[in-house]
Amino acid sequence: MTKQKNAVRRIGVLTSGGDAPGMNAAVRAVVRSAIFRGIEVIGIRRGWNGLINGDIVKLDEKSVAHTINRGGTMLYTARSAEFMTQEGQLKAVATCKLLGLEGIVAIGGDGTFRGARALSKHGISVVGIPATIDNDIACTNYCIGFDTAANTAIECIDKLRDTMQSHERCSIVEVMGRNAGHLALYVGLAVGATAVMVPESTEDFETEVIEKIRNARLNGFTHYMVVVAEGAGNAMEVSQRIRDEIALDPRVTVLGHIQRGGIPTARDRVTATRMGYRAVDILANGGTNRIVALRNSVMCDIDIDEGLAEHKGIDQEETTVLEAMTGV
Ligand code: F6P
Repeated sequence: MTKQKNAVRRIGVLTSGGDAPGMNAAVRAVVRSAIFRGIEVIGIRRGWNGLINGDIVKLDEKSVAHTINRGGTMLYTARSAEFMTQEGQLKAVATCKLLGLEGIVAIGGDGTFRGARALSKHGISVVGIPATIDNDIACTNYCIGFDTAANTAIECIDKLRDTMQSHERCSIVEVMGRNAGHLALYVGLAVGATAVMVPESTEDFETEVIEKIRNARLNGFTHYMVVVAEGAGNAMEVSQRIRDEIALDPRVTVLGHIQRGGIPTARDRVTATRMGYRAVDILANGGTNRIVALRNSVMCDIDIDEGLAEHKGIDQEETTVLEAMTGV
């Protein structure tokens, strides 16, 4: 096979923001796809801070071996306040120039993409890969890590259900999602929750939770599972309100960061691998300021400014289905 001519000779790859299972698979795919095309890859450690400080590691095909099945990120990650400043960005540009980095692949969520956009405005080619368990990047239907996080939460909640059923209790489970309820809604559907609280909801507590529990009791159920997204309300407060209003004695479980770890599912590994390949393809063809995206099951890429301007509401079809499932 004849090697294609690439627009870049050396690129960097970094992970930034909250980690997500499948990030390693994405790094691996970037490295392997780049090397396949004759492009060198430098790992930038600790997110955008690493680009500011020149915190780097040379990556070859061997250095990403046995990582596709590992959670976390081999490149470490961080949220960088300094990179949000002009001074920080100029330091990052200087690092790129010093190292001869002609392109950067940035793997993370919306904060990561705001950084990527800033860097591309300074003349460095940048491509973003969406990876966040919140699945809240509007321009893509899917973000790496969501499926693994959902399955982790589901496994935990299935276990909780056993004991809640035995003791005929009400369980309040808080899942991650500071600003978005995609994970809570999806998990709620999968575990057969009695009620789900998401930050996007406009329903009052009475309709969203109390009425659902009351209905369930009237229909003969004696245990109840309430799934609360982190951003929709404090689980302890939800529990107290239920105690005050309908005299149940709920038990609270906050799943927390356990949802961010673990062996990535097939969906996350394969999506990460496809997205990593696509990111390198964009840079090799001279593209910049792009986000790799899955839209209607098609792998594509869109302009970062356009992508960041989009808004992702809660899935209406899933909400309607949940309403039917919890309304009986
Ligand atoms: O990565 C997204 C996320 O997991 C959110 O769901 C959560 O609110 C936040 O990160 C937690 O961030 P940290 O790791 O800083 O506690």
